[in-house]
Amino acid sequence: MAAQGFNATCTQGQDPSLQAPSAPAAAIEAGLAQVETLLNATYTDHQLETQVNAMCMHVINAGGKRIRPRLVLTVAQALPQYSAPRDHENICHVAAAIEILHTATLVHDDVIDKAPLRRGAPTLHELEGNHAAVLAGDYLFTRCFALLHRPRNFDIIAELSRTLSQLVVGELYQLEHEGDLNLSLETYYQTIYAKTGVLFELAACAPAFLVPDSTALIEPLKTFGRELGIAFQITDDILDYSANSATLGKDVGTDLNDQRITLPVLLALQTYERRADKNAQAELIAAIKQADLGAVQAAIAATDALAQCQAQAQAASARAQRALEVLPDSSARDLLSALPHKAIARSH
Ligand code: IPE
Ligand code: IPE
Ligand code: MG
Ligand code: MG
Repeated sequence: MAAQGFNATCTQGQDPSLQAPSAPAAAIEAGLAQVETLLNATYTDHQLETQVNAMCMHVINAGGKRIRPRLVLTVAQALPQYSAPRDHENICHVAAAIEILHTATLVHDDVIDKAPLRRGAPTLHELEGNHAAVLAGDYLFTRCFALLHRPRNFDIIAELSRTLSQLVVGELYQLEHEGDLNLSLETYYQTIYAKTGVLFELAACAPAFLVPDSTALIEPLKTFGRELGIAFQITDDILDYSANSATLGKDVGTDLNDQRITLPVLLALQTYERRADKNAQAELIAAIKQADLGAVQAAIAATDALAQCQAQAQAASARAQRALEVLPDSSARDLLSALPHKAIARSH
């Protein structure tokens, strides 16, 4: 299936130049432009902070997909009580804060994963060393809190603290299970929820804390974000075995190099187990231990594991879409409903 960028507002298969974007779609694009301004405004003019500012801007402006701020802005548009004059500024600040939080976790994640490339550019630790990169990630957290200050909403701050603890737990789970060839499907799902699902959950529910009379929608929106994040991370794990590095903007094969058992490998192992194919299973285990990417990719192909992964991503995507049924019908809800499909039909 052809990959679609997250910035596509057109209906699939039609020429985008022939369509006028809907009012919510145009408002979301305008909001995203404002988010970019806010991200760049995190640059402070304090002389002592010049070096750390430059490091942060390197990664912020390397160009990410901005899926999380898009999610915040799109959910806001889909809330029945949303009022642009009252809510727009707060929503944009929260959207930018969440993107910065995400960026901080990427900087730290790349140190942990020893990843050389991010967003098509060398990672900060490659350029500046681990110490500077860890500190730049910490500094990005401070910029996140500065942005989050604007709505003066304690509930969002509490949600963000919970999210951050879960992200740490997620990375630790992963570390704990490095090289664990008996990893269960349940532990895999717990890990991807904690390291990725929680931030999507926060992005999806945050507008309902800011827009009055929306609290009944918080839980369904969390479900939407959680399942979207799970579909997104399964796809990330597929791409780590199937994409090419130039398109992906980061190295492929990183999970294998780090001895991280993700869904493609887990399902390949389980398929050989089901088939009682001891030889193939032993060969796959040896290939994993040697981080032999070609041999592991061959086993994934032989067991049809990528199609099985896609089916699981598709199931999460369908659960996400079902959670949206509580929202009133609107063109903004249609845009939200398109996000899970884009999360799984992507090439980067
Ligand atoms: C990367 O997230 C980390 C994962 C959760 C897989 P993205 O794929 O959204 O990264 P950017 O922001 O577009 O670079
Ligand atoms: C990312 O997981 C989750 C984070 C909390 C950053 P990955 O390690 O799979 O993400 P990439 O592949 O490096 O972007
Ligand atoms: Mg990583
Ligand atoms: Mg990955």
